[in-house]
Amino acid sequence: MTMAMDAATQTTDDSAVAPIAVFDSGLGGLTVVRALQQRLPAEKLVYFGDTARLPYGTKSPRTVLQFARQCLRFLMQINPKLLVVACNTVSATALESLRAEYSIPIIGVLTPGATAAVRVTRAAQANGPCVIGLIATEATIASNAYSLAVARLDGNIHLVGRACPLLVPLIEEGRSPDSAIVQAVLADYLEPIKSLHPPALILGCTHYPIFARAIQRFMGEATTLIDSADQTALVVSRRLATMRLLHPGGDDGGLTCYVTDQGLRFESLAGRFLGRPIAPPVGVDPEVLESAPVERP
Ligand code: DGL
Repeated sequence: MTMAMDAATQTTDDSAVAPIAVFDSGLGGLTVVRALQQRLPAEKLVYFGDTARLPYGTKSPRTVLQFARQCLRFLMQINPKLLVVACNTVSATALESLRAEYSIPIIGVLTPGATAAVRVTRAAQANGPCVIGLIATEATIASNAYSLAVARLDGNIHLVGRACPLLVPLIEEGRSPDSAIVQAVLADYLEPIKSLHPPALILGCTHYPIFARAIQRFMGEATTLIDSADQTALVVSRRLATMRLLHPGGDDGGLTCYVTDQGLRFESLAGRFLGRPIAPPVGVDPEVLESAPVERP
């Protein structure tokens, strides 16, 4: 029996009302929080954004795993019933290592997005072979994790990916998707993918849904944008239902946010991601995360 299945056997009320932890390098994971709030409004959510050390997408897999381990160790103190890695970069480079270290279920954002893209592409293949488009961080593209996930689902579908390192800073800066600079950056990144006419384009970074309308406009209506946030929320709800760990009721489970830097900035931009204001986030000193040794099981 796997460790995740051990957790699945817990069905006490205490377990069901425990929070869902959501982890990202910064603000982007709030797109997953929004999808979770829509699908599972009674769930208590605790969010951790490692804003001091963002971006993860330009760092090596070793550093990403080290940062992720430190953040997860912090989050585990709240005894979550399930953890969502709401960061494609961490999902692509560190998920299996993290899963091996904890007994609670850890859901990433990569497989749900790849599954949805394959579904859309298979439907379009009737008219001839098609590729899946992917835009993501440098680390996610370099990991090849999406190509491998797609190949596992359908060996006949190829994926063409493009690293878009300028998008995360533009989004974290609160730039409008309609601004000239964002339009120019999108055109430069997307043109080579658009020329391949992909039926599906995976937004392989949890920040990118913020620019979804502008990306859709550029790609045209024949391309379906795959936002892994909705797919991930669906996977979370199914997993909790299977484990009989869905929260028993209530209207709004609430959201508590922790960040490692720039709490005020996080609070003011969070509304764009969530569509509603948040309570001031709690600050966590990254030195504290770094100084305590990470215990390896
Ligand atoms: N949220 C991260 C992701 O989904 C991107 C931000 C970063 O580079 O840290 O890959």
